[in-house]
Amino acid sequence: MNHIIIIGFKSVGKSSVGQALAGALGLPYLDFDRKLEAFYAENTGGTLSVSDILRTQGEPYFRLLETAVLPRVLSQESRSVIALGGGTPCTPVNQKLLREHTIIYLSDKPDVLFERIMAAGVPAFFPKDKTPRAGFDEIWQARTGVYESLATITVGNSVPIAKTVERIVGERSKRQRSTLLLMHGPNLNRLGKRDQELYGTLTLPELEAKTAEEAKRLGYDLITFQSNHEGGLIDWIQAHAEMAAGIIINPGAYTHYSYALHDALVDTHLPAVEVHLSKIEDREPWRQVSVIAPACIEQIMGKKEAGYAEAAQRLVDYLQRTKV
Ligand code: DQA
Repeated sequence: MNHIIIIGFKSVGKSSVGQALAGALGLPYLDFDRKLEAFYAENTGGTLSVSDILRTQGEPYFRLLETAVLPRVLSQESRSVIALGGGTPCTPVNQKLLREHTIIYLSDKPDVLFERIMAAGVPAFFPKDKTPRAGFDEIWQARTGVYESLATITVGNSVPIAKTVERIVGERSKRQRSTLLLMHGPNLNRLGKRDQELYGTLTLPELEAKTAEEAKRLGYDLITFQSNHEGGLIDWIQAHAEMAAGIIINPGAYTHYSYALHDALVDTHLPAVEVHLSKIEDREPWRQVSVIAPACIEQIMGKKEAGYAEAAQRLVDYLQRTKV
């Protein structure tokens, strides 16, 4: 399940924007801090706020608690808007989980945030050996890089909440209209070194760059991904379909037997074009079968890299034809 997750520095307004965004999108709202407090209470019998858990139990304990609670929150059955804790995305295991979701990074000017935070007193996670401002700056530096690297959409929250929500909703639907996904399955990371008679001479980065150029020419952004793992491809589809208009996929050998990949494509409800560099219908009998084809609007094969430009064109033609 792909959730919409709000991340950002302490006091930036994650909860209020999260609630308003959930209302605008008609989705349930979930506050990570409240879940963490409930989990702590269930397991210790203590009813403490997140800041008190952090202050009394120390930061290492608190971060472990976050890592225990995050997978529970993300396994929520119904798609939700979730406001996260400010430090939750900073742990690598948490980052891995978060990358499977749509991430909204809510930002604001550091001076404004510092003032707002200090109005409620120095937080327990500020370093004790520094002035509050130096401590804030250090954490700000460390965290903003993480937030930026995770963000699907970044939006400033220095305007009224309703405006911020409007911007998020607008940006999301713009992306949904103007982004294509390009995915490659196993062994295709080795293009350029594989049989060039069958698969051409371009490396995967070259092929992706060329297809991105073609997509740009057609008015679309292209997001690319390759994995040698079936689950990795499925996770990526689940995480990114929400922000895209269509998919171009060369599933590699998964073409011939991955019903799971077929189902993942069907579940996106997005048009997909299947591409093969080689002409699979003239190759071994097992390779002539595509279990992916029924989930796609078109299949292009045997044209080496030229097949990708054609795939982008066909996908865009389809999107224009079916535009509402
Ligand atoms: C391929 C064809 C598949 O059968 C093969 O396993 C690949 C590449 C192609 O592009 O021709 O890895 O998808």
